[in-house]
Amino acid sequence: MSRYVTAALACAFIAAGASTLHLFARSPAGAAVPDGKGIFAAKCAACHQANGAGGGPFPPLAGNADVTASDTSTLILTVLNGRSGPILVNGKTFSGAMPAWKDQLSSDDIAAVLTYIRSAWTNKAAVVTTEQVAAARNPTALSGGQIFAAKCAACHQSSGQGTSAFPPLNGNPHVSAADPKEMIATIVNGRSGALAVNGTTYNGKMPAWKGQLSHADIAAVATYIRSAWTNKAPGVTEQQVAASGPAVLSTVGASIYSSKCAACHGAAGQGGGHGTFPALAGDSLVNNSDASGMIGLIEHGRSMMPSWKGQLSAGDIAAVATFVRSAWGNKGAAVSEQDVSAVK
Ligand code: HEC
Ligand code: HEC
Ligand code: HEC
Repeated sequence: MSRYVTAALACAFIAAGASTLHLFARSPAGAAVPDGKGIFAAKCAACHQANGAGGGPFPPLAGNADVTASDTSTLILTVLNGRSGPILVNGKTFSGAMPAWKDQLSSDDIAAVLTYIRSAWTNKAAVVTTEQVAAARNPTALSGGQIFAAKCAACHQSSGQGTSAFPPLNGNPHVSAADPKEMIATIVNGRSGALAVNGTTYNGKMPAWKGQLSHADIAAVATYIRSAWTNKAPGVTEQQVAASGPAVLSTVGASIYSSKCAACHGAAGQGGGHGTFPALAGDSLVNNSDASGMIGLIEHGRSMMPSWKGQLSAGDIAAVATFVRSAWGNKGAAVSEQDVSAVK
């Protein structure tokens, strides 16, 4: 930790001690309700500044889309558990350590300070409730097995054997994959379209569980299906679920591809125009383990290849790049929105 951060931390704690008495305001009914603005001034402003503008290694909270996102689960976890390492905010990378507040602030206090930062300055987002914070703080109310029985077994069957319409989860290599990222994204965001499992193709619709199950519950049920029946894969953490982030759905990528790219590159990535439009199936740039060359080309174009920056969002470029890298026998790893934003 840099000296700057250590000093700011010390500052924040001194400030906290001095102003604890002012952290509660009286509601009209006389009950004490936490004062989000007061908590912010005491605990957060030393680093993020009273006007939320940040500075040095401290990211702004004013005008920051992570703070005003409609899905508050990552925001709540950031304040409960802290975070460190590079973070991209409004095109600028910050890299510092944000302290964890879960042992210092109650769920009421965290809900109040989050409600404050979501509505202060130019921010205009909905309140965060004590219940949302409490749910994120106390992860698993139900075990993974109970969640599976309640939410998943109707389709995937109680022993994970599936039916002709619903793929098996038992003995399914996607479920037991060493890198569980794709599987987590499927549970978080849902999926539809052709899915081949052990030689049988399914074509149904898996619901999205984001917003219906907490990150902790998704981690619990994902851990359960990876270790139940004959499956023997290691567990999934709440952090891995949180990191699966905004949807980069290959279904979204597939629809962008068919509307924006297929006219030139062909519906099956086979290319076209007698060699004018290169095939993307089996293409070396597309399959490169470093996706930045391909991302840069999609962003900026080259000769007859249009530039898509400004026409497609970073999320949509990530989705279409992910689709192209995994379709038609291609074997490139998924591309995240962060990967796209990092390529200038
Ligand atoms: C010691 C300095 C410090 C204090 C005190 C502090 N933060 Fe932070 N905060 C940081 C740093 C540094 C980061 C960026 C962490 C990184 O680089 O990953 C951060 C990140 C964040 C983020 C994530 C922003 C994003 O774009 O995802 C939020 C939200 C946040 N802080 C809210 C708060 C709140 C609310 C408080 C008070 C309860 C607070 N912080 C107190 C240093 C601080
Ligand atoms: C309404 C029926 C339904 C429910 C409920 C359901 N699923 Fe699914 N699930 C599906 C279908 C259909 C697919 C295949 C989607 C496709 O064809 O693209 C699927 C696919 C999956 C996959 C991907 C398998 C693979 O091979 O990549 C996983 C993992 C999964 N479901 C887990 C779960 C979990 C965990 C739950 C409970 C939280 C759940 N499902 C609840 C219907 C359902
Ligand atoms: C108007 C026709 C056209 C459209 C539409 C188009 N491309 Fe291209 N694309 C090209 C041409 C031509 C090239 C070859 C550029 C060059 O190297 O001169 C190319 C090259 C590429 C390459 C690099 C292949 C290589 O290895 O050189 C990728 C990747 C690519 N396009 C992806 C896409 C994606 C993704 C979309 C949709 C978002 C798209 N293209 C839409 C014409 C098009």
